[in-house]
Amino acid sequence: MQRTKVKDLLTGAEAGKDVLLKGWVRTKRGNKYVNFIAVNDGSTINTIQVVADANNFTEEALKDVTTGAAVSITGELVASQGKGQAFEVQAKTIEVLGKADPEAYPLQKKAHSLEFLREIAHLRFRTNTFGAVFRVRNTLAFAVHRFFNEKGFVYMHTPIITASDAEGAGEMFRVTTLDPINPPKTEDGQVNYSEDFFGKATNLTVSGQLEGELAAMAFSDIYTFGPTFRAENSNTTRHLAEFWMIEPEMAFYDLKMNADLAEEFIKYIIRYALENNREDIEFLGQRLTEEDKARPQNERQEMTLLEKLEFVVNNDFERVTYTEAIDILLNSSHYKKKKFQYEVSWGIDLQSEHERYLVEKHFKKPVIVTDYPKDIKAFYMRLNDDGKTVAAMDILAPGIGEIVGGSQREERLEILVERMKGVGIHEEDLWWYLDTRRFGGCPHAGFGLGFERMVQFVTGMGNIRDVIPFPRTPQNAEF
Ligand code: 4AD
Ligand code: MG
Repeated sequence: MQRTKVKDLLTGAEAGKDVLLKGWVRTKRGNKYVNFIAVNDGSTINTIQVVADANNFTEEALKDVTTGAAVSITGELVASQGKGQAFEVQAKTIEVLGKADPEAYPLQKKAHSLEFLREIAHLRFRTNTFGAVFRVRNTLAFAVHRFFNEKGFVYMHTPIITASDAEGAGEMFRVTTLDPINPPKTEDGQVNYSEDFFGKATNLTVSGQLEGELAAMAFSDIYTFGPTFRAENSNTTRHLAEFWMIEPEMAFYDLKMNADLAEEFIKYIIRYALENNREDIEFLGQRLTEEDKARPQNERQEMTLLEKLEFVVNNDFERVTYTEAIDILLNSSHYKKKKFQYEVSWGIDLQSEHERYLVEKHFKKPVIVTDYPKDIKAFYMRLNDDGKTVAAMDILAPGIGEIVGGSQREERLEILVERMKGVGIHEEDLWWYLDTRRFGGCPHAGFGLGFERMVQFVTGMGNIRDVIPFPRTPQNAEF
């Protein structure tokens, strides 16, 4: 007999037939006449109820059917008489494929805290919450490819090991095979990386953008979707040392076209998740609503998760320049009451409290902030005619802050070289990048969407560690 997934069993399409199901026991309850076993196989948030009649199954036969055990069950799929489910399985055979000692199995019926579940990340997939989160993550990843594929973008695999620091922030993990205790040295006592595996110092990439730009100069429209690494020592709910980023790069795009594409893209993948993971998102929404009830009235969310997502999909993002954003902050009562911890003045890097004020208090919707001061942005962003700002854009999302960072790129060779000098990047190291400005360069633009921050936004999960299967953060690389 062919196995049927729980999701398909629950549609009732096979009602009246014998079915084979496999999965993990969530609960078993019953009395001396009958036992009810709830089985989940990850195909849906819902479980299928299996009815094991005492006439067919002795207590002994069911003793290993405990929470967490893997089971294989045959029986007839029938309309359920009980409430809570439309269909159930009248068991004929039950085989335990893998026991889970009830004394030792860490997942109990009671709700566990997210912090505790993080410590048993190898088992947390089996909870309703993480089942829902990672099904939504999967759907979003698929939607990313679907969106760009429909638009004729070419998916580029940019390298993970690189010698360049695309963002120029110096937050890189070194990749080396040199002996850490006794590395070869140069005459002036530095580590001699010319003897290293690649003949030069290399790192894990912080971004695929620079290589993405090279490909865009041939395919017009490309995107990357891969892991990126940042050795920034930020222990926040928004930062990972290893995270996934989607980076489209488009030839012949200016900043406005770039922003339009980013907005369309974000709406598309949210809509796709709403259509394909409704039950999971509803479950996660209820979770948040429950959590919210514990908060004082004035700190509660104005919208449920579903309302928030529908709102974002159905409304235009706000667009302001950095200069306008600073003015809004300076004129806010929040500022006048000295409620910002960090200073506000033209030239500052917006802190997360500023970003959250703009999106959550002032505009109450996602905001695209453009044209930042050049000194706080990366060297590759196109210098505006004012000589002070660059054609940058950040997209800020309610509850998250920065979710996208992007820009129109500096296509003018002399200006680019000047900016590189200014931040201490050697021309020789990026000769290949500069070549695209020498040979058929053109106006182009792109952006990077932090995938985990996007998953946070759609699932409502407060901590980024709970939307990636095995988070990498300072002092933590377990599993
Ligand atoms: O703003 P960032 O640094 O931009 C770039 O890397 C550009 N090369 C993108 C481009 O134009 N192609 O990073 C882009 C996004 C951020 O907006 C944020 O969502 C996410 O990546 N991000 C992180 N997510 C999790 N943990 C971190 N440590 C992150 N750093 C950035
Ligand atoms: Mg950024």
